[in-house]
Amino acid sequence: IDVSKFQDNLLDWYQHTKRELPWRKNQDAYRVWVSEIMLQQTKVDTVIPYFNQFMEWFPTPEDLAYADEEKVMKAWEGLGYYSRVRNLQTAVKEVVEEYGGEVPSEKKHFSSLKGVGPYTAGAVLSIAYEKPEPAVDGNVMRVFSRILNITDDIGKAKTRKRFEAILPEFLEDVRPSEFNQAVMELGALICTPKSPGCLLCPVQQHCEARKQGVQEELPIKEKK
Ligand code: ADE
Repeated sequence: IDVSKFQDNLLDWYQHTKRELPWRKNQDAYRVWVSEIMLQQTKVDTVIPYFNQFMEWFPTPEDLAYADEEKVMKAWEGLGYYSRVRNLQTAVKEVVEEYGGEVPSEKKHFSSLKGVGPYTAGAVLSIAYEKPEPAVDGNVMRVFSRILNITDDIGKAKTRKRFEAILPEFLEDVRPSEFNQAVMELGALICTPKSPGCLLCPVQQHCEARKQGVQEELPIKEKK
């Protein structure tokens, strides 16, 4: 695969198709962080109104750190997976106490916060701080399983690590925020789990699964 052509094709497409989402308005790390936590188990269309309300009530890490837990739960009501927001408030308190309210830009520091796993760390550090960090979730594994015809079981921790080892090459010589979000966008709009829109795909010429006609069989996810 010609990585440089792949990047160009993907990024050109992203420039003219990207959705205007409220968390894409700027690169504020706290906004990006909140959005990534909300988006983990919840679809974009559902998240939008919750995100806007949350940012109205708690526009900065300080606002969230000092907010009543009840009001915080109220803001999350209906989104589910409530440990996400409990962890977020705990983590934001630490940001206020330990880092003067500045979301840390060093992986070692940011990753040690409550509820921040490898995906969240990669997403926030790349989107807010332009660090060349992979942000590997199920969507990214689906896209790259197909592009590279990788048949490893995406349910295994080892497979995520394999993708994290592959992606840095793709993050060279691009803006990491644009590249990672372009991959997310491709996974959401074109390279979907069922009936992927290969005819409209900006990187179809680079797709090994498509060449072999196996795109619908990937990614592999063994039943537990
Ligand atoms: N899903 C996870 N993160 C996202 C983002 N930043 N934009 C759109 N969808 C996403």
